[in-house]
Amino acid sequence: MERTYLMVKPDGVQRNLIGEIVSRFEKKGFTLVGAKLMTLSKELAETHYGEHKERPFFGELVSFITSGPVFAMVWEGENVISTARSMMGQTNPAEAAPGTIRGDYGVQVSMNVIHGSDSQASAEREISLFFNEQELNNYEKEV
Ligand code: CMP
Repeated sequence: MERTYLMVKPDGVQRNLIGEIVSRFEKKGFTLVGAKLMTLSKELAETHYGEHKERPFFGELVSFITSGPVFAMVWEGENVISTARSMMGQTNPAEAAPGTIRGDYGVQVSMNVIHGSDSQASAEREISLFFNEQELNNYEKEV
């Protein structure tokens, strides 16, 4: 079954949006297999966002994502990678449709509430960066 890495960013944690965001993915029918509140080290943040290293906003991105706790999650389900991306909305909240997480709660591209893996390869990489096997729960939904 497909898995993705989702992370409520420091702005979402500060604004008490963890419950709302978890609830959206639960209600959609996805399965939460791992979750933790954590503060990223600079090293972990730089590795996670390595593909943006050359971008002018890289320093700002790393300092924001390490500025306070994030809520790191692994979700499982059919097509969860692309469906979670559409539930999140466009990266820039100004362009994100109402009804999406960023469309409903975000204002700025740098503080856009949530991160989600954009492909199978990045999901695998990000899940293993943030979680070890013991932290991931394999179980079937009974309802
Ligand atoms: P995310 O999905 O976490 O992946 C990379 C992040 O870079 C992205 O969300 C945005 O929050 C951030 N980002 C993209 N463009 C800019 C920008 N122009 N200025 C600041 N941050 C940006």
